[in-house]
Amino acid sequence: MSSDDWKRQAAAEALKYVEDGMKLGLGTGSTAAKFVDLLADKVKAGLKVVCVPTSEATRAQAAALGIPLATLDEHPALDLTVDGADEMDEELRLIKGGGGALLREKIVAVASERVVIIADSSKRVDLLGRFPLPLEVVPFGLAATQRLITGFAADSGCEGDIKLRHGANGAPYVTDNGNHILDCSFGVIDDPEALDDALKLVPGLVESGLFLGIADVGIVAGPKGVEILSAVESDFDEEM
Ligand code: A5P
Repeated sequence: MSSDDWKRQAAAEALKYVEDGMKLGLGTGSTAAKFVDLLADKVKAGLKVVCVPTSEATRAQAAALGIPLATLDEHPALDLTVDGADEMDEELRLIKGGGGALLREKIVAVASERVVIIADSSKRVDLLGRFPLPLEVVPFGLAATQRLITGFAADSGCEGDIKLRHGANGAPYVTDNGNHILDCSFGVIDDPEALDDALKLVPGLVESGLFLGIADVGIVAGPKGVEILSAVESDFDEEM
C-alpha cells in the first residue's frame, strides 16, 4: 500500500464520525481531499450535510462534486471538522499549513464541536518541528514582523531559518486571505505552548500553524494498520 492508500483509509475511517444533518468543516490538502471525495459518494447516496470549506481549493472540489456548501457566517457553529495535518504528536498537537490554508483551517476547526484529524503514518511524530512551522503574516512590515518572530521564538527556545514561501511562479505565495507565509525551520519544538504564546505577541503575525488543544481525534493509517488517538479531557471522548 502507498501513502495515498493510507490517506484514503484514514479518510474512510473519519466518515464514521459523520451523521445525517451535520454541519461539517472540510479541511485542505491531499488527505482532506480524499475525505471530500468519499463524502461526495455519501451525499450522492442521500446523506444530508452542509459543509464549510477551509480554502478556495476545497470549495472548488466540493462544489464540483455536488456537496452542499455554506459559509461560516451562515453557520458559525459546526458539528465536526475533518482535516489533515503536516505533523501530529501523541497529545494531538499539530503543525498545519503546509498547504497554506492554516488561518481558515484554524478558524473553522475552533468553530467546530469536534475536530478529527486524518493522516498517513508519516505525519505521526514524537516531537513537533521536523516540518517547518508555517506562519501566516500580513505583507505590510514583513521585515519588522520577521525580526520580532526571530526574537520571540529564540526567547522560547526556537532558532532556525525563517523563509518567505514562494509559489510556483517564483513570486511570494499569497494565501486565500491575501497574506504571505513564513516557513520556520526551528527543528524540534520542545515547548510548543511557550512558542505559541510568544508568537501571539507579534502584531503582523495573523496565525501560526501550531494547532494546540484543537484536535479531538487523530486517525493515522499506515503499514501497521489504523491508529486512533483521542485527546485527553475531550467532550467527544465522554460522549463516545
Ligand atoms: C493545509 O494548509 C494543511 O494544513 C494541510 O492540512 C496539511 O498540509 C496536510 O496536507 P496533506 O494532507 O496534503 O499532507
